[in-house]
Amino acid sequence: MRSATVIGLQWGDEGKGKVIDAFASEADVVVRYQGGGNAGHTVIAKGVKYVFHHVPTGILYPGVTCVVGNGTVLDVVALKTELAELTEQKVALSNLRLSSRAHVVMPYHRALDEAREQARGGTGQIGTTKRGIGPCYADKASRTGIRLADLYDPQRFAERLRRNLDEKNAILVHLFRRPPLAFEPIREACLDAAEALRPYVCDTARVAQDALREGKRVMFEGAQGIMLDLDHGTYPFVTSSSASSAGVSSGAGVPPAAAGKVVGVAKAYTTRVGSGPFPTELLGEPGDRLREIGKEYGATTGRPRRCGWLDLVQLGEAVRLTGCAGIVLTKLDTLAGFGPLKVAVAYERGGKRHDGFPADEAGWEELTPVYEELPAIPADPSYLGATDEDQLPGVAREYVAFVERRLGVPVSVVSTGPQREALIRRGDVLGF
Ligand code: IMP
Repeated sequence: MRSATVIGLQWGDEGKGKVIDAFASEADVVVRYQGGGNAGHTVIAKGVKYVFHHVPTGILYPGVTCVVGNGTVLDVVALKTELAELTEQKVALSNLRLSSRAHVVMPYHRALDEAREQARGGTGQIGTTKRGIGPCYADKASRTGIRLADLYDPQRFAERLRRNLDEKNAILVHLFRRPPLAFEPIREACLDAAEALRPYVCDTARVAQDALREGKRVMFEGAQGIMLDLDHGTYPFVTSSSASSAGVSSGAGVPPAAAGKVVGVAKAYTTRVGSGPFPTELLGEPGDRLREIGKEYGATTGRPRRCGWLDLVQLGEAVRLTGCAGIVLTKLDTLAGFGPLKVAVAYERGGKRHDGFPADEAGWEELTPVYEELPAIPADPSYLGATDEDQLPGVAREYVAFVERRLGVPVSVVSTGPQREALIRRGDVLGF
């Protein structure tokens, strides 16, 4: 099989959008397999900015089939708007395929997401994107969800919607003291969006399976990052899907081996949006400065991202969990001129080295990172956007080599700026 999986190795926002965009032209088929409108990829191609939430960025390449798999959750009204915006930007959508088995994020999911977050209050909040992701996946697991296919059977859809809405309204009104949602506007908006999506809806597992059988090059595109994975992330401060390479099989409808070579994307430092453990977080002025230099604001919600040093303990865990065989290191340019750099190489607990990754929140609070200091990378605009390793100052090359040595995984690409071309290729990436 000629396949590869590109995933985030940190808490999302690693720059996967740019990486996937840069390599999508080498694939025949790109498949999203989890997540939904909580994701946000920004791509700048030929000076034009495109923002994606549901649609794979590969859609920018006319010859690439773009699949949104059964493991995703789709806000059909938002998706309709996303498609309209892409059409306005002259992006052809004829190669888009949406899984008839993908679950639909309904307005009551968003309302519950928001109500639960507010009820958790302050530090208890997960800091979700409020896109209804958790409640939608919860309904999927409870077997009360509505799938894309259901929207094309208006009567059955109306029955399920009525049943679900009665239950959700009872929770919204009696538990959260919120107004109930009206049935008819939701029904109409969903059926209207379903018509707009109809040309693209199909059995996408078949599309992926056929492509693999025919020897086509298939790239699976992860959303979020491994630390937000429902099972292996910093629970409960996670998203509700399998953001790891393990999600490929169930989320796309292909055998586990189809994930192929796993390529992990990691920022040269660390960021996270929302609450939860972040051992190497930089608080105060340095964190604010890193956020400003790196323009670290969420593509989906515009929220400021928390910023911190690169954490090789966390990345080591990510490598073990995902089996990643190559790393794309992004935003190295942001560190230029930042001053002496620190990289976490171990954790300590109670003054002693701590091996392992805590499962509980209290465990995280007791950890302190052990840092190694690396020399500052000088601020020099001449190497921003570099495409050749020789253009980088020695200290920047040493930073990359340090990451490689410590993780035991080659850094096959270094990203040096936001433009599509600003990449240094140091080896084979997707391995097709
Ligand atoms: P949810 O996915 O909206 O339920 O949010 C759960 C957690 O995942 C929150 O901390 C969000 O900030 C985070 N999250 C969800 N999607 C993304 C993403 O695409 N990038 C970064 N963080 C995300």
